[in-house]
Amino acid sequence: MSRSEKIIERLNRSVATSSKVLFYPLVVKEAHGSRVTDVDGKTYVDFNAGWTVAGVGYSNPEVVGAIEAELRVSAGVPAGTFPSETAVEFAEKLLAVTPGDFEKRVWFGHSGTDSCAAAYKLLPLATKRQRIVSFYGGMHGVDLAGLAMGGMLATTRYPVPSVVSKVPYAYCYRCPYGLEYPSCGVYCASGFIEEVLFRNVCPPEDTSFIIVEAMQSDSGDIVPPERYLRMLKRTTERFGIAFVADEVKIGFGRTGKMFAVDHSGVEPDAVALGKSMASGIPTGALVARKELFPRGFAFSTLAGNAVSAAAGLATIKIIERDRLPERAAKLGHKLKKRFKELMDHHPLVGDVRGEGLFVGLELVRDRRTKKPAKAETAKVVYRAWQLGLLTVFVGAESNVIEITPALTITEEELDTGVEILERAVLDVEKGRVSGSLVRGYTGM
Ligand SMILES: Cc1ncc(COP(=O)(O)O)c(C=O)c1O
Repeated sequence: MSRSEKIIERLNRSVATSSKVLFYPLVVKEAHGSRVTDVDGKTYVDFNAGWTVAGVGYSNPEVVGAIEAELRVSAGVPAGTFPSETAVEFAEKLLAVTPGDFEKRVWFGHSGTDSCAAAYKLLPLATKRQRIVSFYGGMHGVDLAGLAMGGMLATTRYPVPSVVSKVPYAYCYRCPYGLEYPSCGVYCASGFIEEVLFRNVCPPEDTSFIIVEAMQSDSGDIVPPERYLRMLKRTTERFGIAFVADEVKIGFGRTGKMFAVDHSGVEPDAVALGKSMASGIPTGALVARKELFPRGFAFSTLAGNAVSAAAGLATIKIIERDRLPERAAKLGHKLKKRFKELMDHHPLVGDVRGEGLFVGLELVRDRRTKKPAKAETAKVVYRAWQLGLLTVFVGAESNVIEITPALTITEEELDTGVEILERAVLDVEKGRVSGSLVRGYTGM
């Protein structure tokens, strides 16, 4: 038994099932850039970047340097009460980089979950409207607010308050309305919401905000049609509803622009941030129109502390200085081309989609019926790990391989990863990967 497997056994005896999601028996010793080394000494190319947290690479030396320096002088100082200039500078930077040419403010938290929950708590109070609209397939965190707004099975099995109405997202590969783009007229954007939802269960005059991922990630790396967000925005404007963009997972350059919503030209009224914004120091923020924050306090003791601010400032500096959004667009273009070519030889790959270094490969048993290849997806991800590549799968049917490498990944690492992934797909197609191997590693 490997050292990793022994530690996984201890993990299973000590950590709650609901506090982990494993795809293979990997235990990390160290991670740098786009390379991860396990406790048995094997090094992998990484196509996950810590669920996008390590946008500028694991243990980025510049970020680590900034964290160390700040940690030495201000660990434990609660910036909400004893303000620090570093934290103020970080807030100013977030105001500058987020979309929206109007007066905004930053609310700080510790995670993406916190950022979305801030919208849930604060916007209804400020707008004096109770209701919220979110989307099937949406992921907005795992506290009660996030679960109430989430649209995936994993987030909807808990008892939650019911002020949220959920509507289908623009998942064109499997249109929830059985329509086809573009003849559908993008009915999913405004049609259903205005004609059905608002007239029946969610009066627009009592709707505070709509929360949407510009591209859905956890439910299958779904990129909506070009007009979708603009149409949604028009609907919100028509009824005075705030538009909240959840950029927690793919914001900060990943999609080829600083924020995924920037591809549409929409200026959201609020943006939820997290994950990569501080490269591993747990941090979240909701950046919103000034008037969307009510009076009164709602923050955690250490929210917006100077250590996370220093990490965030260093992260954004690297993204801007090294033009990482442009780099992501260029590399992503190449990556998608490679994966599309892969489709020519591998019928298991039913769809390739994404923007920049946010790419999804949807695996199907049959391209015509699109039957999700759930077991095969778990096997491909496991086989890729055996061959030296770290990936994960997502999606309502757990059949989408998610590719979200660090924006700093080298072209050589990208090539190696693609070659491994292709080999893994081939091995699964040829029946060379046993189901017993992946049992216990199906993402749950
Ligand atoms: C779009 C989106 N929003 C919010 C969250 C919650 O972030 P966290 O898990 O860091 O609290 C996630 C997590 O995956 C997410 O993908």
